[in-house]
Amino acid sequence: MKNLLEIIMPASLTAVAGAIAVCLFTLGDHLTPEPAAAEVSNCAGMGPLPEPVKQAQSLPSNADATAVAAGDALFKGNCAQCHAINEVVVGPALAGIRKRRPEAWIQAWVKNSGKLVARGDEYAVKIFNQYQQQQMPTFQLSDQEINQILDYVEASGNQYMAYAPAQP
Ligand code: HEC
Repeated sequence: MKNLLEIIMPASLTAVAGAIAVCLFTLGDHLTPEPAAAEVSNCAGMGPLPEPVKQAQSLPSNADATAVAAGDALFKGNCAQCHAINEVVVGPALAGIRKRRPEAWIQAWVKNSGKLVARGDEYAVKIFNQYQQQQMPTFQLSDQEINQILDYVEASGNQYMAYAPAQP
């Protein structure tokens, strides 16, 4: 048994080393001008070359990456035509919104800003007037979806330290 192992082990090691050597050699060929992914992945079961890992961005403590990704998509689909994180577009820059307004207010505002204005909510009336009384559309988003948008806004806003909120 021991003898058999001694014979098999070095032989298989040599085979693996040989395969890797061939791979590296072929890889070298493909590095310029462009790597041929299909051929590279055939190398002795080494699989395709891994994608470079992206640097993690600073996330708010209460948000995970999934929520931020969902919020990113929701923001682009519903809000981005009028809002950016750090600059005024049609509506105000949204960076720091969680520090400016309570979460319940933001939820109510996004679902129906006109209702808050009509009710005479002081902040709502002020910002509505400040932006030429242009009413935001109503959104049929769940509390969770709105929170995901806020997570995304917060995660994006964290990258800019020099943000100053718009003066009302
Ligand atoms: C058609 C343009 C438009 C779209 C789309 C839009 N908004 Fe707005 N938003 C505005 C305007 C304009 C204001 C300023 C207040 C006003 O005029 O009613 C505003 C104000 C806000 C405010 C208050 C900001 C502050 O600084 O107090 C929040 C929060 C907000 N929007 C969130 C959202 C979110 C979240 C979405 C997407 C789900 C969205 N908005 C989509 C135009 C828009």
